[in-house]
Amino acid sequence: MERTLVLLKPEALKRGICGEIIARFERRGFKIVGMKMLRMDREMAREHYKVHEGKPFFEGLIEHITSGPIIAMVLEGPSAVRVVRDMMGATDPLNSPPGTIRGDYGLHIGENIIHGSDSLETAEREIKLFFRDDELL
Ligand code: RTP
Ligand code: MG
Repeated sequence: MERTLVLLKPEALKRGICGEIIARFERRGFKIVGMKMLRMDREMAREHYKVHEGKPFFEGLIEHITSGPIIAMVLEGPSAVRVVRDMMGATDPLNSPPGTIRGDYGLHIGENIIHGSDSLETAEREIKLFFRDDELL
């Protein structure tokens, strides 16, 4: 069993599509072991996306992810990291086939609806950034 971190990005809340996206994960069979709504501050955003520091899109990414509330979730299930990434689709929604979350809900790489941890190690680090142990049920 694996755990992975999912973030529903600010546009998902602005557009009111969170319920539909959460339902996809429930339908697939994932267990939600943690969930909260929060607004990331810049320091937390820089920590979360630190592998991208210095890249041309970094400042825009920080601006965007801190622009409004997000929903953070920890999902548990077999091969959760890979399966959630498969359900999300490609980073650029234009390269994400219909049926994937990014392929069904967006057109812009800077507003691609959702984040999912990209490896087990990343998941462990990211889950700790968002949740205390006693918030995972
Ligand atoms: P995420 O971390 O948000 O789950 O996305 P990802 O793994 O699919 O993609 P990653 O390479 O980690 O990029 C993080 C976020 O930065 C924005 N981005 N913009 N303009 C660009 O070329 C570009 N590349 C990445 C995206 O919003 C992406 O989700
Ligand atoms: Mg990433």
